Amino acid sequence: MANERRPLIAGNWKMHKTIKESVELVDGIIGSLAKQPVEGVDVLVCPAFTALERVSKRLSGTDIALGGQNCSHLREGARTGEISPLMLLDAGCTFVILGHSERRSYFHETNEMIGAKVKLALECGLRPVLCVGEALEQREQGRTFDVLRTQIEGCLTGLAAEQLAKVTVAYEPIWAIGTGRTATPETAQEAHRFIRGLIASLSMAQVANGTRILYGGSVKPENAASLLAQPDIDGALVGGASLKADAFYAIITSAR
Ligand code: PGA
Repeated sequence: MANERRPLIAGNWKMHKTIKESVELVDGIIGSLAKQPVEGVDVLVCPAFTALERVSKRLSGTDIALGGQNCSHLREGARTGEISPLMLLDAGCTFVILGHSERRSYFHETNEMIGAKVKLALECGLRPVLCVGEALEQREQGRTFDVLRTQIEGCLTGLAAEQLAKVTVAYEPIWAIGTGRTATPETAQEAHRFIRGLIASLSMAQVANGTRILYGGSVKPENAASLLAQPDIDGALVGGASLKADAFYAIITSAR
Protein backbone atom coordinates (compact mmCIF):
# COMPACT_ATOMS: atom_id res chain seq x y z
CA MET A 1 0.00 0.00 0.00
CA ALA A 2 2.78 2.41 0.94
CA ASN A 3 4.23 2.40 -2.57
CA GLU A 4 0.90 3.71 -3.86
CA ARG A 5 1.79 6.92 -2.08
CA ARG A 6 4.32 8.24 -4.53
CA PRO A 7 5.45 11.61 -3.23
CA LEU A 8 3.80 14.59 -4.90
CA ILE A 9 5.46 17.99 -5.04
CA ALA A 10 2.94 20.66 -6.00
CA GLY A 11 3.62 24.31 -6.80
CA ASN A 12 0.91 26.82 -5.92
CA TRP A 13 1.81 29.92 -7.88
CA LYS A 14 -1.06 31.92 -6.36
CA MET A 15 -1.65 35.34 -7.99
CA HIS A 16 1.84 35.58 -9.43
CA LYS A 17 3.34 35.54 -12.94
CA THR A 18 2.14 36.79 -16.29
CA ILE A 19 1.61 34.26 -19.06
CA LYS A 20 5.14 34.87 -20.34
CA GLU A 21 6.65 34.52 -16.88
CA SER A 22 4.64 31.35 -16.27
CA VAL A 23 5.96 29.79 -19.46
CA GLU A 24 9.52 30.76 -18.46
CA LEU A 25 9.07 29.21 -15.05
CA VAL A 26 7.65 25.96 -16.35
CA ASP A 27 10.35 25.78 -19.01
CA GLY A 28 12.92 26.10 -16.23
CA ILE A 29 11.36 23.24 -14.29
CA ILE A 30 11.07 21.06 -17.40
CA GLY A 31 14.69 21.86 -18.30
CA SER A 32 16.02 20.86 -14.87
CA LEU A 33 14.03 17.63 -14.88
CA ALA A 34 15.21 16.81 -18.40
CA LYS A 35 18.85 17.40 -17.46
CA GLN A 36 18.63 15.44 -14.21
CA PRO A 37 15.45 13.39 -13.98
CA VAL A 38 14.04 12.62 -10.55
CA GLU A 39 12.55 9.14 -10.41
CA GLY A 40 9.58 8.21 -8.28
CA VAL A 41 8.25 11.70 -7.59
CA ASP A 42 5.09 13.21 -9.08
CA VAL A 43 5.14 16.92 -9.91
CA LEU A 44 2.21 19.34 -10.21
CA VAL A 45 2.14 23.02 -11.08
CA CYS A 46 -0.84 25.32 -10.44
CA PRO A 47 -0.50 28.61 -12.34
CA ALA A 48 -3.03 31.43 -12.58
CA PHE A 49 -6.09 30.69 -14.74
CA THR A 50 -4.87 32.94 -17.56
CA ALA A 51 -1.65 30.95 -17.95
CA LEU A 52 -3.15 27.45 -17.78
CA GLU A 53 -3.55 26.77 -21.45
CA ARG A 54 -0.10 28.01 -22.44
CA VAL A 55 1.56 26.12 -19.62
CA SER A 56 -0.46 23.03 -20.57
CA LYS A 57 1.02 23.16 -24.08
CA ARG A 58 4.54 23.28 -22.63
CA LEU A 59 3.77 20.31 -20.38
CA SER A 60 2.62 18.03 -23.16
CA GLY A 61 5.04 15.14 -23.47
CA THR A 62 6.27 15.59 -19.87
CA ASP A 63 5.10 13.87 -16.69
CA ILE A 64 4.31 17.15 -14.94
CA ALA A 65 0.64 17.60 -14.11
CA LEU A 66 -1.34 20.84 -14.28
CA GLY A 67 -3.85 22.11 -11.75
CA GLY A 68 -6.13 25.06 -11.09
CA GLN A 69 -6.10 26.96 -7.81
CA ASN A 70 -9.87 27.00 -7.30
CA CYS A 71 -13.09 26.22 -9.15
CA SER A 72 -16.82 26.73 -8.86
CA HIS A 73 -19.24 24.30 -7.28
CA LEU A 74 -21.34 24.61 -10.46
CA ARG A 75 -20.71 23.24 -13.94
CA GLU A 76 -21.92 26.38 -15.70
CA GLY A 77 -24.26 29.28 -15.33
CA ALA A 78 -24.62 32.93 -14.42
CA ARG A 79 -21.72 33.25 -11.97
CA THR A 80 -19.67 36.21 -13.14
CA GLY A 81 -15.98 35.74 -12.47
CA GLU A 82 -16.13 32.05 -11.60
CA ILE A 83 -14.38 29.15 -13.33
CA SER A 84 -16.04 25.79 -13.84
CA PRO A 85 -14.14 22.55 -13.21
CA LEU A 86 -15.05 21.68 -16.81
CA MET A 87 -13.15 24.78 -17.94
CA LEU A 88 -10.11 23.63 -15.97
CA LEU A 89 -10.28 20.26 -17.69
CA ASP A 90 -10.65 22.03 -21.01
CA ALA A 91 -7.47 24.01 -20.30
CA GLY A 92 -5.52 20.80 -19.60
CA CYS A 93 -5.82 20.46 -15.81
CA THR A 94 -6.05 17.15 -14.02
CA PHE A 95 -5.91 18.60 -10.47
CA VAL A 96 -7.50 21.49 -8.61
CA ILE A 97 -6.52 23.04 -5.28
CA LEU A 98 -9.64 23.56 -3.15
CA GLY A 99 -10.25 25.17 0.21
CA HIS A 100 -6.91 26.95 0.48
CA SER A 101 -6.82 29.02 3.68
CA GLU A 102 -6.60 32.19 1.57
CA ARG A 103 -9.88 31.21 -0.10
CA ARG A 104 -11.39 30.44 3.30
CA SER A 105 -10.32 33.73 4.89
CA TYR A 106 -10.42 36.31 2.08
CA PHE A 107 -13.33 34.82 0.11
CA HIS A 108 -15.31 33.42 3.03
CA GLU A 109 -15.42 29.86 1.74
CA THR A 110 -17.06 27.51 4.21
CA ASN A 111 -16.53 23.77 4.59
CA GLU A 112 -19.95 23.27 3.05
CA MET A 113 -19.02 25.27 -0.06
CA ILE A 114 -15.66 23.58 -0.34
CA GLY A 115 -17.30 20.17 0.06
CA ALA A 116 -19.62 20.95 -2.86
CA LYS A 117 -16.60 21.95 -4.98
CA VAL A 118 -14.76 18.75 -4.07
CA LYS A 119 -17.76 16.67 -5.06
CA LEU A 120 -18.28 18.40 -8.40
CA ALA A 121 -14.57 18.41 -9.24
CA LEU A 122 -14.53 14.63 -8.71
CA GLU A 123 -17.68 14.16 -10.79
CA CYS A 124 -16.03 16.13 -13.60
CA GLY A 125 -12.88 14.00 -13.42
CA LEU A 126 -10.51 16.38 -11.61
CA ARG A 127 -8.44 15.32 -8.63
CA PRO A 128 -8.94 17.75 -5.74
CA VAL A 129 -6.12 18.84 -3.46
CA LEU A 130 -8.11 19.73 -0.36
CA CYS A 131 -6.35 22.18 1.97
CA VAL A 132 -6.93 22.12 5.71
CA GLY A 133 -5.11 23.67 8.64
CA GLU A 134 -5.50 25.60 11.85
CA ALA A 135 -4.80 29.24 12.71
CA LEU A 136 -2.18 30.11 15.32
CA GLU A 137 -4.80 31.05 17.88
CA GLN A 138 -6.58 27.72 17.40
CA ARG A 139 -3.32 25.85 17.89
CA GLU A 140 -2.50 27.84 21.03
CA GLN A 141 -5.94 27.04 22.41
CA GLY A 142 -5.34 23.32 21.83
CA ARG A 143 -8.04 23.15 19.16
CA THR A 144 -5.93 21.93 16.23
CA PHE A 145 -7.45 18.46 16.07
CA ASP A 146 -11.01 19.79 16.43
CA VAL A 147 -10.44 22.21 13.56
CA LEU A 148 -8.96 19.50 11.34
CA ARG A 149 -11.84 17.17 12.15
CA THR A 150 -14.43 19.83 11.28
CA GLN A 151 -12.66 20.64 8.01
CA ILE A 152 -12.07 17.06 6.88
CA GLU A 153 -15.54 15.86 7.84
CA GLY A 154 -17.20 19.02 6.50
CA CYS A 155 -15.49 18.75 3.11
CA LEU A 156 -15.28 14.99 2.54
CA THR A 157 -18.29 13.37 4.19
CA GLY A 158 -20.57 11.52 1.81
CA LEU A 159 -18.00 10.68 -0.85
CA ALA A 160 -17.81 7.10 -2.08
CA ALA A 161 -14.60 5.22 -1.29
CA GLU A 162 -13.47 5.37 -4.92
CA GLN A 163 -14.01 9.14 -4.94
CA LEU A 164 -12.18 9.62 -1.66
CA ALA A 165 -9.30 7.61 -3.11
CA LYS A 166 -8.81 10.36 -5.71
CA VAL A 167 -8.52 13.15 -3.12
CA THR A 168 -5.16 14.52 -2.01
CA VAL A 169 -5.13 16.41 1.29
CA ALA A 170 -2.75 19.27 2.05
CA TYR A 171 -2.14 20.09 5.70
CA GLU A 172 -1.22 23.75 5.80
CA PRO A 173 -1.08 25.34 9.25
CA ILE A 174 -2.10 28.95 8.57
CA TRP A 175 0.65 30.31 10.81
CA ALA A 176 3.24 28.66 8.55
CA ILE A 177 1.96 29.96 5.20
CA GLY A 178 4.19 32.63 3.71
CA THR A 179 5.63 33.43 7.15
CA GLY A 180 8.94 31.61 6.95
CA ARG A 181 7.83 29.75 10.06
CA THR A 182 7.56 26.01 9.30
CA ALA A 183 5.95 23.37 11.47
CA THR A 184 8.61 21.05 12.87
CA PRO A 185 8.63 17.66 11.17
CA GLU A 186 7.23 16.15 14.41
CA THR A 187 4.37 18.67 14.69
CA ALA A 188 3.47 18.15 11.04
CA GLN A 189 3.68 14.37 11.33
CA GLU A 190 1.30 14.42 14.31
CA ALA A 191 -1.28 16.35 12.29
CA HIS A 192 -0.80 14.17 9.20
CA ARG A 193 -1.28 10.99 11.19
CA PHE A 194 -4.44 12.44 12.74
CA ILE A 195 -5.79 13.39 9.28
CA ARG A 196 -5.11 9.88 7.97
CA GLY A 197 -7.10 8.50 10.90
CA LEU A 198 -10.00 10.84 10.04
CA ILE A 199 -10.02 9.64 6.45
CA ALA A 200 -9.99 6.04 7.65
CA SER A 201 -13.02 6.75 9.81
CA LEU A 202 -14.82 8.33 6.82
CA SER A 203 -14.18 5.32 4.62
CA MET A 204 -11.77 2.53 5.37
CA ALA A 205 -8.16 2.06 6.33
CA GLN A 206 -7.34 0.85 2.84
CA VAL A 207 -8.36 4.18 1.32
CA ALA A 208 -6.64 6.20 4.06
CA ASN A 209 -3.41 4.25 3.62
CA GLY A 210 -3.35 5.27 -0.03
CA THR A 211 -4.28 8.94 0.51
CA ARG A 212 -1.50 11.38 -0.20
CA ILE A 213 -1.24 14.01 2.52
CA LEU A 214 0.99 16.93 1.56
CA TYR A 215 2.52 19.41 3.97
CA GLY A 216 2.37 23.11 3.09
CA GLY A 217 3.67 26.25 4.78
CA SER A 218 7.07 27.79 4.08
CA VAL A 219 8.49 24.64 2.48
CA LYS A 220 11.95 25.43 1.09
CA PRO A 221 14.89 23.43 -0.24
CA GLU A 222 16.47 23.67 3.24
CA ASN A 223 13.60 22.13 5.20
CA ALA A 224 11.90 19.87 2.65
CA ALA A 225 13.90 16.69 3.23
CA SER A 226 13.28 16.52 6.99
CA LEU A 227 9.54 17.08 6.51
CA LEU A 228 9.29 14.56 3.69
CA ALA A 229 11.14 11.96 5.76
CA GLN A 230 8.12 11.67 8.10
CA PRO A 231 6.04 8.53 7.56
CA ASP A 232 2.73 10.32 6.93
CA ILE A 233 4.06 13.25 4.89
CA ASP A 234 3.65 12.28 1.25
CA GLY A 235 4.73 15.45 -0.47
CA ALA A 236 4.55 19.22 -0.30
CA LEU A 237 2.34 22.07 -1.45
CA VAL A 238 4.81 24.84 -2.08
CA GLY A 239 3.95 28.52 -2.48
CA GLY A 240 6.82 31.04 -2.47
CA ALA A 241 9.59 28.54 -3.24
CA SER A 242 7.67 27.22 -6.27
CA LEU A 243 8.10 30.56 -8.06
CA LYS A 244 11.77 29.88 -8.78
CA ALA A 245 12.63 26.89 -10.95
CA ASP A 246 15.85 26.03 -9.11
CA ALA A 247 14.26 26.10 -5.63
CA PHE A 248 11.27 24.06 -6.80
CA TYR A 249 13.53 21.53 -8.50
CA ALA A 250 15.61 21.24 -5.32
CA ILE A 251 12.45 20.43 -3.35
CA ILE A 252 11.51 17.80 -5.95
CA THR A 253 14.91 16.16 -5.54
CA SER A 254 14.53 16.05 -1.77
CA ALA A 255 11.35 13.94 -2.17
CA ARG A 256 13.25 11.17 -3.90
P1 PGA B 1 4.20 29.15 1.19
O1 PGA B 1 2.68 28.86 0.72
O2 PGA B 1 5.03 27.97 0.72
O3 PGA B 1 4.58 30.42 0.52
O4 PGA B 1 4.17 29.25 2.68
C1 PGA B 1 2.13 27.58 0.77
C2 PGA B 1 0.70 27.62 0.33
O5 PGA B 1 -0.01 28.58 0.66
O6 PGA B 1 0.21 26.70 -0.35
